[in-house]
Amino acid sequence: MQTKDKVLQALLQAEGRYLSGAALAKELGCSRTAVWKAIEQLKADGCEIEAVTNRGYSLQNAGDLFLPVQLEKRLTNARTSYQIHHFPELDSTNNRLKELAAAGAPAGTVVIADRQTAGKGRLGKSFHSPAGGMYLSVLLRPDLPLTDMMAVTACTASAVYLALADLGIQSQIKWVNDLFLNGKKICGILSEGAFNAELLKMDYLIIGIGINLTPDPNLPEELRPIVTDILTDTGLRLHRADLIVGILLHLEQLIAELPSRTYLPIYKQNSCTLGHHVQFLSNGTQKTALAVDFADDAGLIVEHDDGTRETIRTGTATPID
Ligand code: BTN
Repeated sequence: MQTKDKVLQALLQAEGRYLSGAALAKELGCSRTAVWKAIEQLKADGCEIEAVTNRGYSLQNAGDLFLPVQLEKRLTNARTSYQIHHFPELDSTNNRLKELAAAGAPAGTVVIADRQTAGKGRLGKSFHSPAGGMYLSVLLRPDLPLTDMMAVTACTASAVYLALADLGIQSQIKWVNDLFLNGKKICGILSEGAFNAELLKMDYLIIGIGINLTPDPNLPEELRPIVTDILTDTGLRLHRADLIVGILLHLEQLIAELPSRTYLPIYKQNSCTLGHHVQFLSNGTQKTALAVDFADDAGLIVEHDDGTRETIRTGTATPID
């Protein structure tokens, strides 16, 4: 743990009581200068810390900062035993979690990064991941048929929808698993996994979720018309800890209830795809049809002009009206 995190942990545990620089330095086994530097870094990260001569430091508000142990504590009543790993920077949380999964990490292992240098999107695209967003990957080892894998990602979109709704944000789900606010994307989800050919089931599934929380002054020009963030669109400054806990709890519940498809009404009622004509690829041909419903496995059912229907299960469907 970095000195900054150790200082934050000590201040959080003190629950507003003052801790002197000398006491902190002694407890953490570092110099008072190192403590002072850590306090300055925490302030720069948005923490409100009061410093009073002869008393020391008191944490008034941790802002968006959190520690893995705090999250684990808030998740102790969950069915899954969560192990949270938090990094200031990673190439991709999915990549890091893949390494942990291959080394045998249990279901419920979570990797969070403050920013990603090579965030991955669906279909080989990149996912712009500056500081100020939420980047999370969670490891599942689901005992579900392969045919349910698409529904698992739809459960994830529904879980993000519910976690945002708990925090007062009304988003919409674009098939398969993007979340939108006022017609612009705020969240993308990328699922990756390894198939066990001997047991004919998934060995593991990694679900990566990226949410734009605050405006990015360096947002690439080409993304500006299609991407937004929660602060800009709602004026709400969310704390990642609340969002992460909410997503993980809703996700495990929706996946546990997958056999009874409780995610489906949430997914349907908050879809911004249904009722629109969509463009999609079918057997290599570009087609347009009306999106009318979802199948039980979250496949998108479209209706052609002649009344025939087909279910799309791969690629994207872009609404055109
Ligand atoms: C998409 O919109 O195409 C999917 C984007 C998924 C982004 C998340 S951020 C956390 C996790 N790590 C990654 O590299 N990608 C996912």
